[in-house]
Amino acid sequence: MPWNRVPLIGGLECYTEENNRRFHMPGHRNEEALPELRFLRERLYAYDVTEVPGTDNLHHAEGILKESEVLLTKALGAGESHYCVNGSTAVNYAMIHGLFQPGDVVLVQRNCHQSVYNALAMARLTPQYLLPEVDPTFLLPTGVSPKTVIQAYAEHPEAKGVILTSPSYYGTVTDLQAISAFVREQGMLLLVDEAHGAHFPFSPLLPKSAMAQGAHASAVSFHKTLPCLTQGAVLNLSADLSPLQRERVRHWLRIFQTTSPSYTLLASMEMARHLMETQGEARIEALILRLDALKAALREVPGLQVMDGKALDPTRLILRTPFHGAQVDAWLRRVHHIQAEMSEGQNLVFLLSAFDAPESWDALEAALKSLPSAAEEFSLLAETSPLVLTLPLRVLPEEEVLFLPAEEVPFSQAEGRICAERIIPYPPGVPLILPGEEISGEILTRLQTLLSSGHPLNRTKSAQSGHLYVVTK
Ligand SMILES: Cc1ncc(COP(=O)(O)O)c(C=O)c1O
Repeated sequence: MPWNRVPLIGGLECYTEENNRRFHMPGHRNEEALPELRFLRERLYAYDVTEVPGTDNLHHAEGILKESEVLLTKALGAGESHYCVNGSTAVNYAMIHGLFQPGDVVLVQRNCHQSVYNALAMARLTPQYLLPEVDPTFLLPTGVSPKTVIQAYAEHPEAKGVILTSPSYYGTVTDLQAISAFVREQGMLLLVDEAHGAHFPFSPLLPKSAMAQGAHASAVSFHKTLPCLTQGAVLNLSADLSPLQRERVRHWLRIFQTTSPSYTLLASMEMARHLMETQGEARIEALILRLDALKAALREVPGLQVMDGKALDPTRLILRTPFHGAQVDAWLRRVHHIQAEMSEGQNLVFLLSAFDAPESWDALEAALKSLPSAAEEFSLLAETSPLVLTLPLRVLPEEEVLFLPAEEVPFSQAEGRICAERIIPYPPGVPLILPGEEISGEILTRLQTLLSSGHPLNRTKSAQSGHLYVVTK
């Protein structure tokens, strides 16, 4: 095939040809070994249908989709669960729009995904941010403590709800049980972005799901950790919400999704649920056992630190090296044909799956054990904390800033000005600063650290290097 005529396909073919062991999203792996996934793969085009008699309608499910959602609800332990073909992004939009009204004050974990910030701006809510705890070794933001929520509520008793992310991209989990008890006592709502925790309901060895811990609504991305095609996600609603509240969320879920949902994707979500119900528990047990052994072996490797602890998804592998993480990431791919999910600073994130071929875990262990022998290939990265440890001052709502004149200024003149663009390190998609927030010295330092390490940044405006867009005075 002339790749220059189909450059996108050409690029995907190149990546596929490299035959890398994938420790990144999506969560489907090793399809060849799974008859259920081979079955779907063979019907990829045949199942790509529209709403014709017999195929039901996602926006008004009454037939096979309704039947499938009943099984989904039971598997996920929710009051009701609904498929979403636009990822947890659209689920976050729907639950935030459906459960709050314009002008409401909400307590929001600061290290939440950009989709939560999008929803806050679109729904015109007023966020009061909750600062997460920080892992002292890995210098990563983790979860929000119950104490932080209680303190923020004391300062903002008008708050209508709390929006948290658990697990985080790094697999750290929050004590949702304690927080939901407090939130419910105050008559607030608890919404949880559980995009990375779709596997939780399927094994007692994993942290409890947000639904099981008393959340009113949650968003889960099937495609991140389950054997499911990209974009597959689920909205969970608690039976404790009123019929009106639930109807409002369903209303917004319809609005935020395409009117032409992919049946191939819906079928992939149903198969993922079925696979997890029939094989998930045993496979997760095997994965955790193997990963425990792998972590023990890696702890013996000079220079490597392995994240561990109770408040962590045991299927995720987070490593810290003395080196530039992006260089280690590139070396793993070039030399060992292993692709990690991401690197940030000195840290590397690997997404392991219950459906990985066990040989992939062996290959990962062998590659990481050989890291010290390749040490001269990497530069050492100074122990800087790339984190922002204070909450930025929100001077204007983001949705208003978009209508104000903005100008480009060099970093040296940016401190104290109001930011007019979004800067989002991607991955993990957690904004560093939003339009309407004051640019502090701390944010500038963090931005410079990210730029000098070459970390990819999504910016809503393309300023020259070393410049930022700010609101004109
Ligand atoms: C914490 C978190 N929430 C939500 C999302 C959005 O999920 P999706 O990609 O399914 O739209 C992501 C995506 O990376 C995420 O990391």
